[in-house]
Amino acid sequence: MDPVDRERLERALGEERERFVKTHPRSAALSAEAQKNLLTGVPMAWMTRWAGRFPVFFSRAEGARVTDVDGHEYVDFALGDTGAMTGHAQPFITETVALQASRGITTMLPTEDSIWVGAELERRFGLPLWQFALTATDANRFALRIARYLTGRPKILVFDWCYHGSVDETLVTMGRGGETGRRGSNIGAQVDPALTTAVVQFNDLEALEAALASGDVACVLAEPALTNIGIVLPDLGFHEQLRRLTKETGTLLIIDETHTICAGPGGATAAWGLEPDILTIGKPIGGGVPTAAYGLSTDLAARLDEFFRSEGVDVSGIGGTLAGNALAAAAMRAALQNALRDEDFAVAIPLAERWTAGVAGVIAERGLPWTVQRLGCRAEYWFCNPPRNGREAAAAMDPELEAWFHLYMLNRGVLMTPFHNMALMCSSHVPADIDLHTELFAAAVDELLM
Ligand SMILES: Cc1ncc(COP(=O)(O)O)c(C=O)c1O
Repeated sequence: MDPVDRERLERALGEERERFVKTHPRSAALSAEAQKNLLTGVPMAWMTRWAGRFPVFFSRAEGARVTDVDGHEYVDFALGDTGAMTGHAQPFITETVALQASRGITTMLPTEDSIWVGAELERRFGLPLWQFALTATDANRFALRIARYLTGRPKILVFDWCYHGSVDETLVTMGRGGETGRRGSNIGAQVDPALTTAVVQFNDLEALEAALASGDVACVLAEPALTNIGIVLPDLGFHEQLRRLTKETGTLLIIDETHTICAGPGGATAAWGLEPDILTIGKPIGGGVPTAAYGLSTDLAARLDEFFRSEGVDVSGIGGTLAGNALAAAAMRAALQNALRDEDFAVAIPLAERWTAGVAGVIAERGLPWTVQRLGCRAEYWFCNPPRNGREAAAAMDPELEAWFHLYMLNRGVLMTPFHNMALMCSSHVPADIDLHTELFAAAVDELLM
């Protein structure tokens, strides 16, 4: 039974929206001004997804704190949807960026930093050979091209409700009959995604086996756990079987660690002993500076070597003039040398455990049929039992209730990721930040109960 009084929810949400408007006059004014020249009034359309009537304009972000143009300070559990998982404006990043900017940002020539970064990525993720891109979207796009080129197969396989960036082939969902459909919001698709992509439910090994048996799938592109439709963890043994099935069918395995780096310094790949053929990662590895990387096994790299050295490589569909630029390389070196290390996770993961225990305590005390899930320093609550796959997760989404928690928190100095109910902890958070969230979560729940 739904424990939430829906009428009360609607009323309370309205009150919170009014409160938000009253207390954010400067953001309101900037938002109105922004409508003139920015499509949807923001530089990136999804910035409209925040729960207030308009997005908060920020003036400063440091560590795990964001200050907005109206002078409100927030504890930031959104951390730029993982892009700022190192903490905002860390001196090791700002000083490195300033120094490298003063020496030149982009030249079409390599700098020494990229050598260090390649070695560090091997140490963390196990794959020896690396290339850089500017976004995780691009890293995934390039990895898919490589997989199709090397296998000569036309299709890729993803899990239902995955997100790997704005990559055409991945913007799919599974229809009721198991067929590949266009994700509802996928606009202007070049081709019917059923031609490019097979889709199965996460944790469904039988369907995976059947899909790979067709022999036309170049690669599986997967997050180790789904993180973009809430956290959906793999069943025990799922990854072993995924690796076995991909190997047996000559299908390459691409693991996207962009979000699951929250599991530790080498992501879930190191934490769970995964053995991908290709690994992609973006967002936090530049400490907030746009950059991404993809790594390959020695065998795949050897098969690509000749082509990558050929004249046509600049028009291969893989690349980017600014990819691997000196500023990005310096930022990655600084970020990987000073953050996302064992000692940082030794702070962030216990904080996420504290966050999870706080939320679980509130749920248990009130006897709610809700749960909380955690992966490393990322945690998330669900208004149901933990889903086992994307379809169950999507069915459990409750946009109104989510908006309530987001806005209630926002109005009281806590930023949650605007999508689902996710919080990310970093080594700049302190226990009091976590306890503030628990307190607000309890108060927000108590406002709604029947
Ligand atoms: C797992 C994963 N891969 C790739 C991306 C794409 O990252 P970007 O938008 O920085 O290209 C995202 C973005 O949320 C992601 O969650």
